[in-house]
Amino acid sequence: MNSPELLSVKDLKTYFFTEKKSPPVKAVDGISLEVKAGSITTIVGESGSGKSITSLSILGLVSNPGRIVSGEIILNGKALHKLNDRQMRKIRGKEISMIFQDPASALNPIVKIKKQLLEAIFIHDKKKKKNEALDECRVMIESVGLDNPDRILESYPFELSGGMCQRVMIAMALLCKPQLLIADEPTSSLDLTIQASVLDLLMKLKNEGMSILLITHDLGVVAQMSDYVYVMKHGKIVENGDVYKVFEDPQHEYTKALLTSNR
Ligand SMILES: Nc1ncnc2c1ncn2[C@@H]1O[C@H](COP(=O)(O)OP(=O)(O)OP(=O)(O)O)[C@@H](O)[C@H]1O
Ligand SMILES: [Mg+2]
Repeated sequence: MNSPELLSVKDLKTYFFTEKKSPPVKAVDGISLEVKAGSITTIVGESGSGKSITSLSILGLVSNPGRIVSGEIILNGKALHKLNDRQMRKIRGKEISMIFQDPASALNPIVKIKKQLLEAIFIHDKKKKKNEALDECRVMIESVGLDNPDRILESYPFELSGGMCQRVMIAMALLCKPQLLIADEPTSSLDLTIQASVLDLLMKLKNEGMSILLITHDLGVVAQMSDYVYVMKHGKIVENGDVYKVFEDPQHEYTKALLTSNR
């Protein structure tokens, strides 16, 4: 891949200061990674290796007692790690969006889908006409493969299946056409058949030019979808490279073990 990097993370450390006297939990411990424009870049690694905390760090969403201790996060030349909360709110949704590991955490179960999607638009464009915004919601709902957008808009999340909620969340993440989509285990809560269609959707978005940072522990998904892979263990990157190369000829013992255990 020769395309320029959209996101560049340098020596990022995110620690949790859980107890005053004990040493911090080094959830992310000095990782560097890049996402090239128009690519799908994957982070793979076992549970607890720091994948979700890496993505929350990029979005500026790490909460107490966790914090970014050092490192740089550069998006399109902009130093995100130097921005304050108000400035980061403008970046989220507009420039970077995230599909969370747990759909239930991203949608409010007792607020109609319509209200939640409209809010996602109005945060970034207060002057947009409501009808125009609603049309955009309908188009986006259809583009994530859901029929009858008006019925979806009038529903509460608890009235929809897990797969439908996940698609609504993807639609919400895409409404403001972010340059970078971070997808944290976007299919792990879904049935197998729906998993395939969500992955197809991500491929379609990539082919339309979106850059995606995909987080998964499923090496099948990595092989099928991604261009470049980072292997994480205990908060560190232990190996990285083009997917075919890492799969053909893993260098690190941990990657070899991962590949064997997934076969
Ligand atoms: N609020 C917290 N307080 C203390 N430690 C935390 C907290 N949140 C996460 N951690 C620690 O950070 C580490 C990385 O967690 P993270 O959620 O990033 O793992 P992950 O790779 O996404 O795992 P999974 O595949 O299960 O989603 C874990 O060791 C976890 O215990
Ligand atoms: Mg996680």
